[in-house]
Amino acid sequence: MDGTLTKNDLSHVVEADRAHVWHHLIQHKPFETNDPRIIVEGKGMRVWDQKGKEHLDAVSGGVWTVNVGYGRESIAKAVYDQLLKLNYFAGSAGSIPGALFSEKLISKMPGMTRVYYTNSGSEANEKAFKMIRQIAHKRYGGTKHKILYRDRDYHGTTIGCLSAGGQDERNAQYGPYTPGFVRVPHCLEYRAGDQGAPTENYGEWAADQIEQVILREGPDTVGGLCLEPVTAGGGVITPPQGYWDRVQEICRKYDILLHIDEVVCGVGRTGTWFGYQHYGVQPDMVTMAKGVASGYAAIACLVTTEDVFSMFKDNADDPMNYFRDISTFGGCTAGPAAALENMRIIEDEDLLGNTTAMGHYMLDQLHALADKHSVIGDVRGKGLFLGAELVVDRESRKPMAEKRVQKVVADCMQQGIIIGATNRSLPGYNNTLCFSPALIATKDDIDQIIASVDESLGREFG
Ligand SMILES: Cc1ncc(COP(=O)(O)O)c(C=O)c1O
Repeated sequence: MDGTLTKNDLSHVVEADRAHVWHHLIQHKPFETNDPRIIVEGKGMRVWDQKGKEHLDAVSGGVWTVNVGYGRESIAKAVYDQLLKLNYFAGSAGSIPGALFSEKLISKMPGMTRVYYTNSGSEANEKAFKMIRQIAHKRYGGTKHKILYRDRDYHGTTIGCLSAGGQDERNAQYGPYTPGFVRVPHCLEYRAGDQGAPTENYGEWAADQIEQVILREGPDTVGGLCLEPVTAGGGVITPPQGYWDRVQEICRKYDILLHIDEVVCGVGRTGTWFGYQHYGVQPDMVTMAKGVASGYAAIACLVTTEDVFSMFKDNADDPMNYFRDISTFGGCTAGPAAALENMRIIEDEDLLGNTTAMGHYMLDQLHALADKHSVIGDVRGKGLFLGAELVVDRESRKPMAEKRVQKVVADCMQQGIIIGATNRSLPGYNNTLCFSPALIATKDDIDQIIASVDESLGREFG
């Protein structure tokens, strides 16, 4: 912290926050007696709070966003210069950074050609759902309108996205939901037993469950399938062997658009530009948000193939025959300006290479922790998105209670290390610790994170 903001300077800020700010995802009663946390400053992998306490951030801004780390002057400068030149114009027109970033992004996504700008992951997913619905109306008399989503996946906070939400606890109390969204089973091999799955070829079996749902609903009613490449907040679920090949096959067989939600995995998080690129699949639509500009500006994108795009311009005489959608702030130029510089940093600093190397290192360290603490039932993840599932005992795989998992998170926080855990999302299964440090993480950073978790697990579980 540079010392310009002292603890005393911030007492008014804390009071203003306590009096007026409604924080996300948190019960506020404790703030009547405890101070809310204010994050004041960030540099690299570290942030400082209102008391000047330093934290090593192992979750990139809490929700896996600040991929290139805090305090990047070159991004701030790119945004500053762009705002002075032109801050905004509606997305019916183009902008210089919008055009240049789309070109750069598409160069990382073979098979994709079009970028639709919006400003949050939820909104990008809504756009994809709208496109699938409009295609159903244009091509199939409205019948092929159903959208499949998977148990434990999350696609955003709006009523439309929650309708495609596979996390029942997160959804609870916000219904009724939008019709036409249908759930398919998850693909978490560690929990295959709970699904009554066979022990062999689990990946194919899990994908076949999707086909079963399609057949039950009627293939001529299903227009889209929305999946995370690696399920993030639903428990860091890496797809089992053979899963994606079969998913692609099923989508082609039944003429179903494959929409991959890369809001978390997109732009480097798993060591490739996009998570799906590990698995050799070719999506029809890809949505992305968090890492696109690492949180330096709000930007999200829906990227499609030329085939999808063409369906919205095939009859220019029909006044309804185009994507009649807008996102006001999708026209903000700060987003693509920041995203361009963010991508340059990832390339110039070889952060994909670092993510792969550090991801392997961290996975090894988590396995070593599992050797020491039997409360760790499973370790999984890809690149720098990793999880450790805590269980009461390894034999039964009974999930550890959420309260005790949260104690580990709180203990790490006390030690100055910010980690995450699945929370209030999956009834009975909020038991996975989550790690997603910035893509600049070093071995030393990872050693500190692991040491802190080691200590916390020891204190909580002996
Ligand atoms: C996989 C996934 N999709 C979509 C979203 C929603 O993004 P946003 O919060 O930007 O609306 C999230 C947010 O955590 C996410 O994890």
